[in-house]
Amino acid sequence: MVEDLRAAAREHLLLHFTRKAAWQSPELPMVVRGEGVYVYDDRGRRFLDGLSGLFCVNMGHGRADIVAAATKQMETLAYTTNWSVAHPASVEAARLIAGLAPGDLDAVFFVNSGSEAVESALKFSWQYHRNTGHPERRKVIARHMAYHGTTVGALSITGVPAYRAPFEPLLPEVFHVRNTYGAEVSPGTPVSSLPCVQDIRDIIEREEAETIAAIFAEPVQNGRGALVPPDGYWAELRSICDENGILLVADEVINGFGRLGHWFGIEREGIVPDLITFAKGATSGYVPLGGLIARRSLVEGLMNRDDALFTHGATWGGHPVATAASVANIKAMQDEGVLGNVLTLAPELRAGLEDLAARHSVVREVRGTGFFYAIELMADRDSGAELTGDESIALLREVLPRAMREAGLLTRPDDRGATMLVLAPPLIADRAVIAELLEKVDAVISAAEAYVKAQRA
Ligand SMILES: Cc1ncc(COP(=O)(O)O)c(C=O)c1O
Repeated sequence: MVEDLRAAAREHLLLHFTRKAAWQSPELPMVVRGEGVYVYDDRGRRFLDGLSGLFCVNMGHGRADIVAAATKQMETLAYTTNWSVAHPASVEAARLIAGLAPGDLDAVFFVNSGSEAVESALKFSWQYHRNTGHPERRKVIARHMAYHGTTVGALSITGVPAYRAPFEPLLPEVFHVRNTYGAEVSPGTPVSSLPCVQDIRDIIEREEAETIAAIFAEPVQNGRGALVPPDGYWAELRSICDENGILLVADEVINGFGRLGHWFGIEREGIVPDLITFAKGATSGYVPLGGLIARRSLVEGLMNRDDALFTHGATWGGHPVATAASVANIKAMQDEGVLGNVLTLAPELRAGLEDLAARHSVVREVRGTGFFYAIELMADRDSGAELTGDESIALLREVLPRAMREAGLLTRPDDRGATMLVLAPPLIADRAVIAELLEKVDAVISAAEAYVKAQRA
């Protein structure tokens, strides 16, 4: 039975972003059950879910409350649309989410995934500018190595070369600028002088402000490994957008719903974006839901006549079951104080990771905040030796996955721009779980270090 499943997966189930060797491997993970911060595989092994599934199971697995809300909704009304029709679950979810969003972002448009959310934000920006008399504003600025999804609009905004290459040419008018990796503001130097900011001003000058629709960025960028921006960076983006009539889109697909200890990651920056995209944690992964939150003034600009409409939609957008699950999820987050949990335990998690880094010369750096970190590897920090291409591949595809299996940890070796291990535990993780996570990560990093040392002995 157990091997039958793997054989059937090899035969019939095409996996996402999965190399053939991993897909066909006898070690293909087969996760069958989840409870709290743990998942179990078909061989009965228990794994700590160090990535909350894929940054989404924020409230943990196996929750009766979210299941009950979804079940009740299915029994009451499994489906009606959000095309010219409203229903209580989507209204309630929209009202709750609008109430949590910063500033005057108070209108929510539901879709089913992060990619669709980004796609919707792009189309909203275009149509807003068109309806307010600026149809020439079509261009987009985004950042190198940022992941914004896979549908063609979202992929065009994505700045990960390997994901774009098989499909190029993509949308021609998306310009990628330097991200905030290594961006440090020394005392007395203005943020505006950072290369990652200057790049944006250069593009605006070269392409002309009147042709630019939007800037897309994550408050803390996942691609290139949990890039926390320097203080003042987002305020600078806000000023640039205000000066030039450009919309500022905060992609909160990972950052939102508590990952950084706030409802939205942008709260750390003290500015209000024009649009927020979300997905993942909005339902803790119990059912798919994504969406777009827009400022009131933008909705009024787009809907500037009685016959105006946002010419965009999807059958499942605002699905009753997904929005009912989201309401239950958000209420549980509020009732259980998980944001406070993240803010309380984040310094301990960070300190544990820093300590681990100090003990392992294979760690170049630990970055991140809240319950969201990347551990970047190199060959030897003390001598400055870098990993060879072959070592990096072996670490990402064999050494780290094997060590994770042995340690009972599920998370993600990441190759986007460096060799990294990414951590994003469920937000319900308590002190004991954080200690257990650190122990497991230590075992995994030790295995990486042993491998590199053996290669160079
Ligand atoms: C920042 C960001 N935007 C968009 C997406 C795309 O979301 P989805 O995979 O739900 O389409 C992701 C997915 O990880 C993401 O991290």
